[in-house]
Amino acid sequence: MKDRSPFTPGNPVPVELFVGRTNQLEEILRNVKQARTGKQENIFLAGERGIGKSSFAKFVCNMACKERLLSVHVFLGQVTSLDEMVRRVFEELLKVSNTQSWYGKISGYFENKIQQIDLFGVAVSFHPTAEDTRELVNNFPEALVNIAEKIKTEKKGLFIVLDDIDAISRTPEFANWYKSFVDKVATHFDYFPISIMLIGLPEFRDNLSRNQPSLMRVFRVVEIEKLQEKEVKDFFLRAFNKVNIAVQESAMEIMIDYSGGLPTIMHEIGDAIFWIDEDGIVKDDDVWKGVISAAESIGKKYLDPLVYRAIRSEKYRSILRKLGVTTSFKKNEIVAKLTKEEKAVFDNFLRTMRDRGVIMIDQEADRGTYKFVNDIYPVYIFMEGLEHKMKVKQHS
Ligand SMILES: Nc1ncnc2c1ncn2[C@@H]1O[C@H](COP(=O)(O)OP(=O)(O)O)[C@@H](O)[C@H]1O
Ligand SMILES: [Mg+2]
Repeated sequence: MKDRSPFTPGNPVPVELFVGRTNQLEEILRNVKQARTGKQENIFLAGERGIGKSSFAKFVCNMACKERLLSVHVFLGQVTSLDEMVRRVFEELLKVSNTQSWYGKISGYFENKIQQIDLFGVAVSFHPTAEDTRELVNNFPEALVNIAEKIKTEKKGLFIVLDDIDAISRTPEFANWYKSFVDKVATHFDYFPISIMLIGLPEFRDNLSRNQPSLMRVFRVVEIEKLQEKEVKDFFLRAFNKVNIAVQESAMEIMIDYSGGLPTIMHEIGDAIFWIDEDGIVKDDDVWKGVISAAESIGKKYLDPLVYRAIRSEKYRSILRKLGVTTSFKKNEIVAKLTKEEKAVFDNFLRTMRDRGVIMIDQEADRGTYKFVNDIYPVYIFMEGLEHKMKVKQHS
């Protein structure tokens, strides 16, 4: 009987199944650890949706903890106000401290300034008054230093992750606030044992440079990209091994191929296979079925309906297959592979795909180069093509 899949599609991966990212880990950890000497760092972690930013942050927090830094991972999602952002930061600090020996020291600090801390058993929620919130927003560095000071026998500093800042980073308030935060730290604090990591889509840089051009310089930008094949393999081995399922060599190759280095797809495929497999050995057959079922769920969960319909359109299906699993393609090179009928509709095809947000002109490459808006699209086309191929096979 199966009761629990080791795969976590859509949620940060558990630390024991985390793979890859060795260079980025080393770089970030080196910088985060500097907080212990009182040097502030501002990191910006950039990457596409689903590429593994939150998982990476979770892993870094875990390591930072071992280095005696109090680490908090704050999700900002749709948050667009500084008040709510700051409230969440302090609420998270209270939550991670709640069961720790130093909790009294920091909750005391909050109680003096802030009226209401609700305690439900071990859960904490934090509801400062509007006035107190304003003060936390305006005196953010002071408040953080104060907390670091209170717990300095237990912790050598703080590591704060602000995840999903895309919505708030579009507001001019955020950029201005962050700029004055950094300036204040630089001018008023010789010792500031707190590092901050912001996480968002690569467009974040454009938002910032529009709103506060000089701010971009303070960030150390770290980028996360696709996983390598050997990392994907390592992941599948570890995940299936965890539930005592063996994987045949050829089956492994197909799983790696169809994952396209994308962690989200890797988990969707793995999860589908986990439930399909009946004998504790993953064989080719399980993988084919798994890929088809994963394509189904990826289409529904991660693709915009317009994109989804464009990619599945009967009219353009054969052209889509010819683009192959690449992130970008040259118009001329594709035209050379097309049949007469396909050539006739190719310009229409390009226009439709652009209108639907599937592809865009690649400004950085030669003329006539297009790229997929999201790396997941070409991989999805590849996966979805499998279902089509199987159907054709059954009919013939
Ligand atoms: N390094 C990794 N090793 C294994 N699985 C990962 C890794 N990074 C991400 N994942 C998985 O990929 C999916 C997307 O990861 P997530 O961290 O939520 O991405 P993002 O925050 O960039 O949107 C999740 O299912 C997660 O479990
Ligand atoms: Mg995330």
